[in-house]
Amino acid sequence: MSDRYQDFASSQIGKFLVKNLGLPSPTRLERYDAGAPLVDGTVLLGGDGRLARSLPGLLDDLGIDHTDDAGPEQRFKGLVYDATGLTSSDRLGALREFFTPLLRRLETCPRVIVLGTPPEQVAGAERVAQRALEGFTRSLGKEIGRGGTVQLVYVAAGAEAAATSTLGFLLSPKSAYVSGQVVRIGAHGATTAGGVADWTRPLTGRVALVTGASRGIGEQIARVLHRDGATVVGVDVPQAASELQALMRELDGDWLALDITGRDAPQRIAHHLAEQHGGVDVVVHNAGITRDKKLANMTEDRWDSVMAVNLTAPERITRELLDRGVINDNGSIVGVASIAGIAGNVGQTNYAASKAGVIGLVDSLADDLDRGITVNAVAPGFIITKMTAAVPFATREVGQRLNAMAQGGLPVDVAETVAWYASPGSTAVNGNVVRVCGQMMLGA
Ligand SMILES: NC(=O)c1ccc[n+]([C@@H]2O[C@H](COP(=O)([O-])OP(=O)(O)OC[C@H]3O[C@@H](n4cnc5c(N)ncnc54)[C@H](O)[C@@H]3O)[C@@H](O)[C@H]2O)c1
Repeated sequence: MSDRYQDFASSQIGKFLVKNLGLPSPTRLERYDAGAPLVDGTVLLGGDGRLARSLPGLLDDLGIDHTDDAGPEQRFKGLVYDATGLTSSDRLGALREFFTPLLRRLETCPRVIVLGTPPEQVAGAERVAQRALEGFTRSLGKEIGRGGTVQLVYVAAGAEAAATSTLGFLLSPKSAYVSGQVVRIGAHGATTAGGVADWTRPLTGRVALVTGASRGIGEQIARVLHRDGATVVGVDVPQAASELQALMRELDGDWLALDITGRDAPQRIAHHLAEQHGGVDVVVHNAGITRDKKLANMTEDRWDSVMAVNLTAPERITRELLDRGVINDNGSIVGVASIAGIAGNVGQTNYAASKAGVIGLVDSLADDLDRGITVNAVAPGFIITKMTAAVPFATREVGQRLNAMAQGGLPVDVAETVAWYASPGSTAVNGNVVRVCGQMMLGA
């Protein structure tokens, strides 16, 4: 599915009109090619804190070229700034001193990461300064342009060595449509993180369940998890069985054609995974539906069906898999929420409630999981799929330009984010909700 405005804006006449009328000018985002280096260029490391010493080693593990010498002229693909040393507000000026001279020396689609200490783990002046980092990074994300992304990663004390998988994701084109996000790496699971023999296929030997896998975002999730080495077990409704089977054959995977809202669906899924695969390592609750109507016209059927697919089924399946011990050690559970569940949307009280509930599911489980199991969610913004292609042209145009990238995302952008959560290197990434929305202007 192509972005017709973007094609137009990069044509000769389009460039002229975009420049003279002040229209949005979306940069063609770089996306990850399997087998390519994670970063095509050099990353400059700056700042002076708790992480500065371990950072070079983490980037070496990922094969990422880095330096701590800005030199007079070199251009950079990425900047990583350790801000954990900024322990009071009078030190925040160090951000300006580091970043301001470098912003005109960045390559296209640059990556910026600021590393901080979770504010809730420190007190007084340090807490103030660390909290301030959020406003800085979110604003720089809206300013940086040219397909650039800016993130704040809070790394808990004790989790310094567990940041590798997150740095690899956020510095590479895998995070093309993720910007302005605050990621937390906790001490939970930090000791088991990093056990990845081959960073190009981190999911080798892992089994991944993906619901709604026959098309759209679910299909891309299945493809990316397979690329990263996983055996994918796809689930979809019986009406989609032939597409599901064809895809799973192509990916050397397995499939289950069933409606996830069925009474015995959780038991059937758990039984299949236990018997055929000896358990599951990655559970992706992707299947979802919309039945939009303003609340004044909302029928019981529209309300109930959305709630059943989007929220009750993920809750029941998760509970069954956990209670029966089907999720293996260091497993990951991933919910697919939506920007609508954060910002709300006209005509979507049912959908937004179900998607906010998915975030609630993450919150309710995150502190109670053991054996290195994690739970996180992605919250996609405007993703170009058959579903959004059906939206009327004018609404679609506005919807996909209202973000820092001035364009819609692709299903693969959601899939790469899921793959990062699913990596055995991400066992310290728990309880996060990351928006894949090009830093949409709506919501928090
Ligand atoms: N496309 C977007 O812009 C966007 C934005 C935010 C969130 N999302 C979320 O991403 C997920 C995937 O969306 P998509 O755009 O790929 O949608 P899609 O409609 O293209 O695909 C959804 C898949 O889920 C399957 N499914 C639906 N009900 C099911 C059930 N009861 N049992 C089993 N499978 C079922 C469908 O058959 C389909 O294959 C959904 O949860 C959606 O809410 C999408």
